[in-house]
Amino acid sequence: MDNYNKRIKQILITKEEIDARIKEVAAQIDEEYKGRPLLIVGILTGSFIFHADLCRAITIPCEISFMCAKSYGHGTVSSGNVKILLDILQDISEYHVILVEDIIDTGRTLKKVTEMLKARNPLSLKVITLLDKPSRRAVDFNSDISLFTIPDQFVIGYGLDCGELYRNLPYIAEYDESIE
Ligand code: IMP
Ligand code: MG
Repeated sequence: MDNYNKRIKQILITKEEIDARIKEVAAQIDEEYKGRPLLIVGILTGSFIFHADLCRAITIPCEISFMCAKSYGHGTVSSGNVKILLDILQDISEYHVILVEDIIDTGRTLKKVTEMLKARNPLSLKVITLLDKPSRRAVDFNSDISLFTIPDQFVIGYGLDCGELYRNLPYIAEYDESIE
């Protein structure tokens, strides 16, 4: 834990920048989904802060739910082996569903989760991610909206972790992998 702060290499996206983009996207959602049954599903754990801030910026009626998906792989690389550890309870055939995730990296997690949800016939399904690392895509899948596109670097904060730490940083930072 000694080098906890040193591993925060530099801030890439400030809380203010995140807030401004969330406002824009929330206004889009307000407009697009008004008068429709809306369910906003966060994928735990990484999306918990983004999901909470996005939902608070939305002003139309909506229901909130969570799923927990884990992609088991070695270290910081996700595998194709995505397991659903917690599922939503709602019958989504009665909802327009927005799936909220922290980041789309290889795309494997979201591809698997959206395939699963589509099979349950939601009225519609959209994917919103805070971050997108398009250079790392391994499967043919893209989000409908990503708030920020970033290069191929490992990031922490605002929900994103390294070894379950740093999720509570209020900004997105680059993680310094060179420090032991
Ligand atoms: P994917 O299945 O490769 O798209 O992986 C998505 C998951 O990998 C995310 O939900 C994150 O948990 C994790 N992930 C990918 N890139 C990063 C990163 O830069 N920092 C922290 N977690 C990441
Ligand atoms: Mg995650």
